[in-house]
This record gives sequence, C-alpha cells and structure tokens, in this order.
Amino acid sequence: MIERIWERMQRIGTRGAAALVRRPRAFAALAVGLSLLATAGAWANAPRDTLSPAGDGAEVAAWFFWLYMILDTIIFVIVAAGFFYAIVRFRKRPGDDDRPNLDLHGNAKLELIWTIIPTIVIVVLAAITIGGVFQLAAPPDREQKLIEIDVIGKQWWWEYDYKAEGITAANEMHIEEETQVLLNLTSADVMHAFWVPRVAGKRDATPGRTYPLTFKAFATGGRVEEFVGQCAELCGASHALMGIKLFVHPKEGPESYANWVKTQQQPAREPTSELEQRGRTLFKTKGCVACHSVKGVAELATRSRTTGPDLTHMGARTTILGNTLPTSVDNVARWIENPQQVKEGALMPDLNLSHGDATAIATYLVSLK
Ligand code: CUA
Repeated sequence: MIERIWERMQRIGTRGAAALVRRPRAFAALAVGLSLLATAGAWANAPRDTLSPAGDGAEVAAWFFWLYMILDTIIFVIVAAGFFYAIVRFRKRPGDDDRPNLDLHGNAKLELIWTIIPTIVIVVLAAITIGGVFQLAAPPDREQKLIEIDVIGKQWWWEYDYKAEGITAANEMHIEEETQVLLNLTSADVMHAFWVPRVAGKRDATPGRTYPLTFKAFATGGRVEEFVGQCAELCGASHALMGIKLFVHPKEGPESYANWVKTQQQPAREPTSELEQRGRTLFKTKGCVACHSVKGVAELATRSRTTGPDLTHMGARTTILGNTLPTSVDNVARWIENPQQVKEGALMPDLNLSHGDATAIATYLVSLK
C-alpha cells in the first residue's frame, strides 16, 4: 500500500519537475516564492535572531553585522558596476585585433591606487572591530550592582551557581533587566558553548578553564521576558538537546528578580499529598539522591562529573532536560523510566522503577515550585 502511494508520488513529482523545467519562468517564480515564504516564516518566529538584540552583547554583534553588510554591499556594487561597464564598453568588436588598446601592466599610479584604497578600508574596519572586541571583553564594574553566576556545562545540561545568593539552578537562567551579569564559564566534561543569541555573544565553556562573559539585558517593560539559547559547541550525542532559557526579570513588582531570588532561597516545599510523600521517600531510597540534591531532603556533598541538577525548585522550571520537554508529571516520569530514549547518552541511569514509582517521584519533583 505504502509502496503504491510512494510510486504514485514519485510519478507526480517527476512529471511536475519536468513541467517546471520546460517553463523556466514558472520555475523561477516558484523558487522565489518559496524563499520568500521561508524568510517570512523565519522572521515571524525567530527566537534566536541576533538582529533583534535584547542585550548589549547582541547589540554590538548586530551593529557590526550591519556595518559590514552595508559597507560590503557598497563596495560590491562599485566593483561590479565597473566590471560590467568594462566588459560591455570595451568588448571586442568586429575588426579589433587581439591587442588591448592600452597596456596597463606596470602602471605604478594604478597599482598604488588599488593597493592603498583597500588597505585603508581594511585598517579602518580592523580598528573599529578591535574596539568592539575590547568593548565585549570589558570586565564588569564591581562598584555597580552585579549578578555573578558560575556556569558549568555538562553533558547535556547547564548548572548555574549563584554563589552570593546561595542558589543552584539548572538550564533556566534568571537575571535582572539593565543589570550587569558576569558568567564564569567552565565545563565538567567536554567543550560546550553558552549562547543566548538575542542577548549576548557566545562563549566557550572549556574544562579546566574559566572564561568570563559580561552582558546586560535591556529593559523588559515591567514583565518577565524569555529568551532561548543553545549550546553552540558540538559536545556529543545529545548536543542538540542542550538548550538554554534565559528569563529577564523587571527590577520592581511581583515578577521582580529579587522575588525570584527569594523564592529560590527557600528550602524545598513539603509534600502535601500522599503521592508526593511517597515520591519523596522513593527519591531518597531508590538512589536519586546519589546525584541530585533537594535542599532539606538530600544535600550534595561533592560536585562530580556525574552530579545531576539540583532539584530543590524543579517544578518552578518551565522545561526539563535543557529545554527539551515542558515540565509535566508525564514527561518527568517518562524520563525517569527510560532516560536513554528521551536523551541519548545522558548519564541519568535507568533505575528500573515501576511506572507507579516513577510517577510518584515525578509528582513530588513537579510539586517543588
Ligand atoms: Cu554542550 Cu553542545
């Protein structure tokens, strides 16, 4: 059945392609139409668009993009115009011999002109670009308010340690609008790269080293703004599932950054139902606590390569597994029951729990707002 449909589709496809090849104008129109459609689609939903910056790092990058784009377009148009003018105006006409009218070889004045002009262009652009590099690499002003977060890339999730605030978070980073942020990036295993395109440039997270990334998110207009990011360094089987969410909080109001910090500093919520209670007991007895901590239930003694995310406020995160799945009891249970199917290569072991036990643990974890 499927083979017949497939054959049919192939025949229609071949005939359609043949018809288009016979009509080059229709073909061109279709190609242009599809590209426009794709562009419009990308424009309408472009959460990773560096050209609509929402932070100073991305703004610098966008500025350089437009500077180079516009300048290079001008140069291209001038060079292309001269080129086409020359091939049309000075083309070989009937009766011409093979010798050019004018021999420019070794013309010192021309050689100098077309060496000096590009040199000036390149030197000016280099000076501006190096200025931008220094601007992006400038250390934060420690006199001003600063949110400092130690970021550790792990296969395949991000750990965020807000040392001064005593908060450990994962994958979803929270910061305050118009406030300096300093990330100290490192890795626990292989190379990763932290990148939230609309807010700041990307920076490598390399094992054994710490690289700083300083940025400031723009004002959000009194509400929480959400940005997505991605690990930008191929880091193994589930690299594509190493997403980032960045929440920029306003300075004032119920959704303020200060309020988020206060909530996160609370110990884990106590279970309120029997199922949650059972989940908490299983979390302790089935071995989850070997890698995960929930403040008040199990504190992590060491930070090792295998150490999993702190789950004290897991239910407050909108997604699990590095922005792979929305947070829900079903998704968390699915993950506990079959980690390798959900995230290939992940270090989360399959503990062979029954569906009931997995659901109880998931219910408990999701209740930890
Ligand atoms: Cu971590 Cu790619």
